[in-house]
Amino acid sequence: MTWGAVNELTTLGAYQRLIAKTEHPILVQMLRAIIKDERRHFAFYRAQARMRLARSRQARRITRFSLDHLWAPVGTGVRPQPETDFVATHLFGDADGALALKEMDSIIAELPGLDRTNLLTDATREACERLGVSFGL
Ligand SMILES: [Fe+2]
Repeated sequence: MTWGAVNELTTLGAYQRLIAKTEHPILVQMLRAIIKDERRHFAFYRAQARMRLARSRQARRITRFSLDHLWAPVGTGVRPQPETDFVATHLFGDADGALALKEMDSIIAELPGLDRTNLLTDATREACERLGVSFGL
């Protein structure tokens, strides 16, 4: 459930960043419609994760370990790494993107056992490093 929450939030954030970067009115209209669904998905996963993490120390430990050691951004492994890195750096590599990542990391960090989580910022910084572009500028 936590993994799902992270991925739904990432997707939601990516669509918002794409809206900020595009000037295509139809794309914006489509993304705004999709975002409504993504908000519902995220709310479901987050509520489930919060409840399940709150009641189980073991769940908190396994979830923390899984996210820290196994999680990768949506799309990783489905497309070649440079393509996934391009999407991450294009949408989140600049100052506004880095701010969006920080906000999303804060939201995830509110879940029980996930304090000081920096998953999304770290993953994007690593994507920028692989592509040789600066992060957060
Ligand atoms: Fe979704």
